Amino acid sequence: MPDSSERYGFVVVSNRLPVDRVIAEDGSASWQHSPGGLVTALEPVMQANDGAWVGWAGQPDLEFEPFVDQGISIVPVPLSAEEVQRYYEGFSNDTLWPLYHDVIAAPTYHRVWWEAYVQVNQRFADRAAEITEEGGTIWVQDYQLQLVPKMLREIRPDVTIGFFNHIPFPPLGIFSQLPWRKQILEGLLGADVIGFQRADDASNFSRAVRHLLGHATTRPYIEVPVDDESAPVSRRGKKVRRVLAKHFPISIDAASYEELAARPDIQARAREIREGLGNPKTVMLGVDRLDYTKGIRHRMKAFGELLADGRLSVEDATLVQVASPSRERVETYKLLRDEIELTVGRVNGDYATMSHTAISYHHHGYPREEMVALYLAADIMLVTALRDGMNLVAKEYVAVRRDNDGVLVLSEFAGAADELKSAMLINPHDIGGMKNTIMRAIEMPKRDRTTRMRALRRRVLDNDVAKWSASFLQALENVRPGQQITPAP
Ligand code: G6P
Repeated sequence: MPDSSERYGFVVVSNRLPVDRVIAEDGSASWQHSPGGLVTALEPVMQANDGAWVGWAGQPDLEFEPFVDQGISIVPVPLSAEEVQRYYEGFSNDTLWPLYHDVIAAPTYHRVWWEAYVQVNQRFADRAAEITEEGGTIWVQDYQLQLVPKMLREIRPDVTIGFFNHIPFPPLGIFSQLPWRKQILEGLLGADVIGFQRADDASNFSRAVRHLLGHATTRPYIEVPVDDESAPVSRRGKKVRRVLAKHFPISIDAASYEELAARPDIQARAREIREGLGNPKTVMLGVDRLDYTKGIRHRMKAFGELLADGRLSVEDATLVQVASPSRERVETYKLLRDEIELTVGRVNGDYATMSHTAISYHHHGYPREEMVALYLAADIMLVTALRDGMNLVAKEYVAVRRDNDGVLVLSEFAGAADELKSAMLINPHDIGGMKNTIMRAIEMPKRDRTTRMRALRRRVLDNDVAKWSASFLQALENVRPGQQITPAP
């Protein structure tokens, strides 16, 4: 166990830790490694650089000592039940989340939530500052922690600071609603490099900085005025610090998905899944956190109408929808679940037969092996998000299709659409257009499917998550020479 005064050269800060607390039937608790994409990407970098991960363990009032998990030091930031409600469920997921996703749901603004957000961000910053060695690097992740870069710079000006926003950054007209918009921008500008998923997110951010703070920007840099006498002078004659704001599209650990897809037991499971569905001609698949940004209802509406129109029957096509439980105490998510489950019930009630279901709906999360089997079983992957930072499910589907088969139907409002141009791109608001695209996907000749999938696979396999983290860390090094992080071996 690392002692509490230990210091680290490379520190990642995110709302959630890369471990889950699991309680066994006998009531005993243990830690389980949670192998998300970010963890997989950063694990080798952390192992090579004596890294630590600062975050919340996902439950209120859980205090424990730092420990080492798979070569990464886990450093907890505890949250009280009230902080979970105000900072996490409230400000992060009922204010920022809907605001940053095109106000698909109405954001709620509460001053007490904001106060909790400031207080909790300060706690994350203090903890990270405490454990980072002189001249070290801290990489802050995502919208829950946008004030941390500035707070860190105030306590630890010696440290190199990166920030990556995993979700969209909204256009000025939407962002301006936020009563604390200036504080958020100033918080982010504490970083040396601010990474976004899409070029549009970076330019939305730069525009907000220009309009709301009046700083000069020469893409991709932002000039932040500073008091420091030794700082360089800008063209406007001011002492400035240059912040890089640029897109670094995140990816997946593509090789590990390919490996799973090559396993005979997983391939057998894929066949078993199809049989279990009554061997329909076409299996369509949706995989999402149960979130209103994902366009799950739009997809079900399109499918339901295709059945109603007689363009499809349940013998022709089944839609498998995995909707993993998410943020279940936030009201908008409760309402969404009811709506989705009502829709599933209606479509199945109207069209399912004794031997074929229309929508096979699963309100669970599944292990990665089962997800890969599902991807292999699916002829068509439906990603119909109304707004999404990236959407890694689209990339996972592509990575497992070693057979160069399968069709990806992808919303143009997902960040992944900027890269995956050979997918069948759709506007999920256009139900008629989506229905026609689904039919074209179902009827697509094998040769066309292969051409498209080959191009998609090249893109995903050549740009994996290790490349993502290496290019972000390289940008940090360029902006602030002296930052020395060994890239993943
Ligand atoms: C998105 C966010 C992440 C978040 C994840 C799951 O991908 O960008 O920061 O961790 O959703 O949401 P949760 O609220 O359960 O952490």
